[in-house]
Amino acid sequence: MKVKGEKVLVTGGAGFIGSHLVDRLVDLSCDVIVLDNLSNTTTEYIQDHIDRGRIEFVKGDVRDFETVESCLDDISLVFHFAAQYDVRRSVSDPVYDFDINVNGMINILEAMRKNDVLNIVFASSGGTLYGLADAIPTPETYPPQPISPYGASKAASEMYISAYCACYGLCGVSLRYANIIGPRSLHGVIFDFYQKLKKEPKSLEILGDGKQKKSYMDVSDCVSASLHITEKIERGFNIFNIGSEEWVTVNYIAKLVINQLKLTNVELSYTGGEQGWIGDVPLMLLSISKLKDLGWKPTMRIDAAIRRYVKWLVEKYGSL
Ligand SMILES: NC(=O)c1ccc[n+]([C@@H]2O[C@H](COP(=O)([O-])OP(=O)(O)OC[C@H]3O[C@@H](n4cnc5c(N)ncnc54)[C@H](O)[C@@H]3O)[C@@H](O)[C@H]2O)c1
Repeated sequence: MKVKGEKVLVTGGAGFIGSHLVDRLVDLSCDVIVLDNLSNTTTEYIQDHIDRGRIEFVKGDVRDFETVESCLDDISLVFHFAAQYDVRRSVSDPVYDFDINVNGMINILEAMRKNDVLNIVFASSGGTLYGLADAIPTPETYPPQPISPYGASKAASEMYISAYCACYGLCGVSLRYANIIGPRSLHGVIFDFYQKLKKEPKSLEILGDGKQKKSYMDVSDCVSASLHITEKIERGFNIFNIGSEEWVTVNYIAKLVINQLKLTNVELSYTGGEQGWIGDVPLMLLSISKLKDLGWKPTMRIDAAIRRYVKWLVEKYGSL
């Protein structure tokens, strides 16, 4: 799939990963349309591009067929990043999650089919899709066994892309991300710890037993790997894990965040159990051999990525 200089649609492009992707697409002289309903964000991180006329912003919902169609004129590639991202919300309201993530997905695919748009890159999820994998690091060939409706919605979306590629000649890439962290993210364990410590710097409640061990990746590496793969793929349906080769425990992250915030004598408490919440995958490390075989490897270590993110949180929302 050619990216440089192309006209592309980014759904969810005002969000965390999407806005970083948009920055890079603008650098690559792409003609970018962002479709986002701003349910989870504002235009803050893409406003400069809008003001300079570098991108077009459409406020709308991926479930609205006419809106999606109106964004597809002369588009050569769709990055589908809009989603209900919250595992816990998917557990408490699986139908809402299905509506945005699966109905939204098929709406995009159907609009692409009817408007002869042939290339799609999808933001999928490694950990939530594999579930309680006993092969670690988990390769792309491991059978999906989601343990949350969110994971199921990502698996279902991938199956639809596969079918559309086979039936209608689309070319698709599904990017199974590890936990992505970095500036502009307003969810995940590090954000949770920062918020809790800001409110109460002397104690920190950890969800689960703190021994959950997962892989984290800086958003700049995530976007660079995503674009690297996209440019290498020419046909069919393709799946890639995207993550780092390191994994750390929740306890380790807690210590790192507490140190960086220069706090002392913080009392840790635990809600207990192997999972932080229903649907939480306690162990996640993705095999990235396939990604490395295509000539890409991570540039940032987990510690550095966590530090960069906490530094941004402090600059943006204040020190404690
Ligand atoms: N952040 C991670 O660690 C991670 C890991 C695996 C997969 N992903 C996937 O990557 C993608 C981006 O995630 P993110 O972390 O940037 O989340 P995010 O919430 O910051 O971005 C999602 C964007 O989609 C928009 N959106 C939500 N519902 C919409 C709808 N119905 N119509 C139009 N726009 C809508 C939101 O307003 C938001 O701007 C998502 O598909 C997510 O599932 C993220």
